[in-house]
Amino acid sequence: MGEFLAAIQGSNLGGGDHAAALMDQQVVNWCKEMIGFPASASGTLVSGGSMANLIGLTVARNQKSGVDVREHGVGALEKPLRFYGSDQIHGCHRKAMEALGLGNCALRRIRSDSGLRIDIGALRSAIAEDRSAGFRPACIVASAGTVNTGAIDDLAAMGTLAAEEDLWLHVDGCIGALLAIAPENAYRVAGIERAHSVALDPHKWLHAPFEAGCALVRDAAAHRKAFSVTHEYLETTARGLASAPWLHEYGLQTSRGFKALKIWMSLKEHGIEKFGRLIDQNIAQARYLTDLIEAEPVLELVAPTTINIVCFRYRRHRFDHAALKSINTEIMLRLQEEGIAALSDTTVHGEHCLRAAINNHRTRRGDLEFLVKEVIRLGDNIVNGC
Ligand SMILES: Cc1ncc(COP(=O)(O)O)c(C=O)c1O
Repeated sequence: MGEFLAAIQGSNLGGGDHAAALMDQQVVNWCKEMIGFPASASGTLVSGGSMANLIGLTVARNQKSGVDVREHGVGALEKPLRFYGSDQIHGCHRKAMEALGLGNCALRRIRSDSGLRIDIGALRSAIAEDRSAGFRPACIVASAGTVNTGAIDDLAAMGTLAAEEDLWLHVDGCIGALLAIAPENAYRVAGIERAHSVALDPHKWLHAPFEAGCALVRDAAAHRKAFSVTHEYLETTARGLASAPWLHEYGLQTSRGFKALKIWMSLKEHGIEKFGRLIDQNIAQARYLTDLIEAEPVLELVAPTTINIVCFRYRRHRFDHAALKSINTEIMLRLQEEGIAALSDTTVHGEHCLRAAINNHRTRRGDLEFLVKEVIRLGDNIVNGC
């Protein structure tokens, strides 16, 4: 309904003094409140997490570069910049580093521990090593919910380290930032409010239809400074449509669609509390699925379940790793093709597995019981040559 109304209403959210622009800012303000950011912070709605991370990393690069990188480009950097994230970091950060002209190698992947969280000791050593080798450490990217397993980095420790080392702390909270509104699980993202920037995805745990992402930046002036351009055809006026702050000054787009409406409408209709309860519900369901898997001798967990992502595989001991990978890939394909479940697969610390990410308010425990039964049925069929 929100998409439909936005389409026929047809507002351009590049900015301006009109109701749609005010609703866009209202949604950004609600996002700030949800994660405990101050009212003075800024933000912008974008297509999704990849763009939201790009916004955060751009501000980080500009603030920590030591030169006017907008004017002179990365060629003017006195020392090459270094960004840090865990070896579980989402692929969009690589794209962002490339787009920012820093290159993939400037993003150091720090090993993750057995819980798939960044190893803080290894991070600290990498920063020291880079400083003495002539690099300029600039930004730590914390994952609040990794794409592979849902692991959450130690945000409080990373906040402290960033402060000690004078680095920008960006939190990729595309999966997990909204845990902050879930009564039983908010503690998992304690410290997120200390970040300099956060990326989050209303099209995940706010159940908004694709596309809807949000970038938040604690220092609104730094955010605006990274993107603001005063065009002669978009000058601010004392009255009229152009009398409000320009929203295009907080990101790469000039014209922007009315993404805010669908989020605004569903938050008004359901309220934040209901979305928080649904997040807790998905996490309880992932715990239930984990328990079902642990009770089955032919299934095994491949990573600890932290939030809503369960990594597991069908396993019979006579098969080696390569055979297990091909059996589990075949299970995944048959689940998809037979319309049973939309699982994906991944590899965690070298172990291939099936990946169930529970992000739907309609999922029921019975669906998960059915999934387990079907994975075993398909696995048995495949090993028996059917
Ligand atoms: C941790 C993480 N970061 C970034 C992204 C990219 O978000 P989007 O697909 O909304 O661009 C995802 C998507 O799943 C993600 O899980």
